[in-house]
Amino acid sequence: MREHDIDELSFDDYDELRDPRPEDNGLDAVVDAAMSRRGFLGGVVAFGSGAAVMGTTFLASEAQAANRFGFTPIPTSTANTITLPEGYEWDVLVKWGQPLWSGTPDVDQATGGTAETQARAFGDNTDGMAIFAKGDKQILAVNNEYIQNKVLLNNREDGKAINADDVQKMKNAHGISIIEIEEGATGWDVVLDSEFNRRITIDTQMELTGPAAGHDLLKIDADPMAKTVLGTWNNCGNGETPWGTYLTCEENFNGYFGSADAEQELPAEFKRYGIKTKSRYGFEKFDDRFDLSKNINEPNRHGYIVEIDATDPTSTPKKRTALGRFKHENAETVLAADGRVVVYMGDDERGEFLYKFVSKDAYVEGGSTEGLLSDGQLYVAKFNDDLSGEWIALTPEATGMTAEEICIQTRVAGSKVGATTMDRPEWVAVNPLKVEAYCALTNNKNRGLKTNAGGDETPVGGPNPREANKFGQIVRWRPTNGNHTDTDFTWDLYVMAGNPTVFDDDRAGSANVNAGNMFNSPDGMQFDSKGLLWIQTDGDYKNEGDFAGQGNNQMLIGDPATGEIVRFMTGPNRCEVTGLCWSLDRRTAFVGIQHPAADFPDGPGTLPRSCVVAVKRTDGGIIG
Ligand code: FEO
Ligand code: CA
Ligand code: CA
Repeated sequence: MREHDIDELSFDDYDELRDPRPEDNGLDAVVDAAMSRRGFLGGVVAFGSGAAVMGTTFLASEAQAANRFGFTPIPTSTANTITLPEGYEWDVLVKWGQPLWSGTPDVDQATGGTAETQARAFGDNTDGMAIFAKGDKQILAVNNEYIQNKVLLNNREDGKAINADDVQKMKNAHGISIIEIEEGATGWDVVLDSEFNRRITIDTQMELTGPAAGHDLLKIDADPMAKTVLGTWNNCGNGETPWGTYLTCEENFNGYFGSADAEQELPAEFKRYGIKTKSRYGFEKFDDRFDLSKNINEPNRHGYIVEIDATDPTSTPKKRTALGRFKHENAETVLAADGRVVVYMGDDERGEFLYKFVSKDAYVEGGSTEGLLSDGQLYVAKFNDDLSGEWIALTPEATGMTAEEICIQTRVAGSKVGATTMDRPEWVAVNPLKVEAYCALTNNKNRGLKTNAGGDETPVGGPNPREANKFGQIVRWRPTNGNHTDTDFTWDLYVMAGNPTVFDDDRAGSANVNAGNMFNSPDGMQFDSKGLLWIQTDGDYKNEGDFAGQGNNQMLIGDPATGEIVRFMTGPNRCEVTGLCWSLDRRTAFVGIQHPAADFPDGPGTLPRSCVVAVKRTDGGIIG
């Protein structure tokens, strides 16, 4: 593949390209995989239905006669625009390069702007987001996951940085954009110059908290106590705490480090995290912080979840190392019955794990929240083929690692306790109406064929039932005693995505997938206030071959009570639909459109601009 083409890849695909897994697991692994598969299918049959994969165990008492969607589902689309059901409309709220303060011009189409304009404008590649209230103000925090370097550096050959200024522009397009928004006569807009507007970037000062703070592996010359750190990047999904702060999740942090010494010997743990001597964007050529030959510990300071008070523009973001270090997708937070805080988290890489954090203390309204995400127990999920599972505590006793090491080399800890290797855990969503959670397992072409980077086998079976899984599935689990702090659970698959117009084997998908609602690669997920599950896709949009008829990436809505899934939105060409939240009155849904094709959203001859769109009912009714 040419360099030119590599720039078009998502970060997930980029990472996989430069880090191929071992080809051969040996005969034993193949036999094991076959055994596991039979075991899983046996379990399904035991539950008495060919459709058990989609959850007969959970559906029996819940089926409802009428669907609750209230709109006519739409077909797939290959149009370079957003399509919605009849009775709905959309408008752009904010887009990459849009100024947040006056005196800054809109993005220059010829150059992609400057480091200075980018520092005062909305970042690139919109992803997870959440809305917060401060008095009567509505404040939106939005992740800017990574960049379209060939667009951002439109004035450079192949989008390659040639000086420190270019790198600064790239850094300023990452991070988080916090904006006050308001709805006026012409729709939703950013409040220019709001006191709440803020850009958090790769250079913003933050505090390190939790067990790993102060550890030798996090010490660098510029921070000998390992208590402060600069910046956050590749912020993918998000979460919200019960006390009204924003959680932003560092995902593919590894690909930003390189070395002036291409032959540099790197620590063994770096391999597990995909940290190599060659970076994607070349920051290390202009900023020593990203040069492993000068700063070997800097990567250990990233890969965490960061807590931000979006309603206080002077607040210092806090990295919460207690929640572990891996390629964090999102941080779905729920209060258990006893008030303890439970955070579910996926590690989005082929064959990596699903985690849960439980705080030591309970949340008390109005009380201090400082320790709640710093002191607690991290668990990793083990799924059994008989539809049971358990959360295994990552303790020093169980792992042979110190508590600090568990927070820094979390993947290694998960391997030591035999966690289940998953098909790329993306977002977790907790049903607000019942004690259950869902995780999108987006796809895994290596399932059953290659180990993860730690050498753990990836047997076909359990919640990952398809070899070389191209389409993805959504697993859900219920704690056995109806409490999210419990360590035992039962699980099933809510849906296996597939293409029933091309395949008649398990690649057709589960029984709740049909020619009218099919999709691939579920990724972003949120429950609305009615308990409906909104599902966003980040998949193959070529609309041919295995994916024929599936069109552009899209957003669907599922009813957990019936298993029904319908299509609500289709995105423009090449985009990923990711990030979702609602206005405080629930009459607008804000949806992220990441890396669309050229011309979107500004029309012919314009640069493509990632954007957040506002979706409303034309009658002004509640939509979520
Ligand atoms: Fe940034 Fe796993 O998606
Ligand atoms: Ca994602
Ligand atoms: Ca994805």
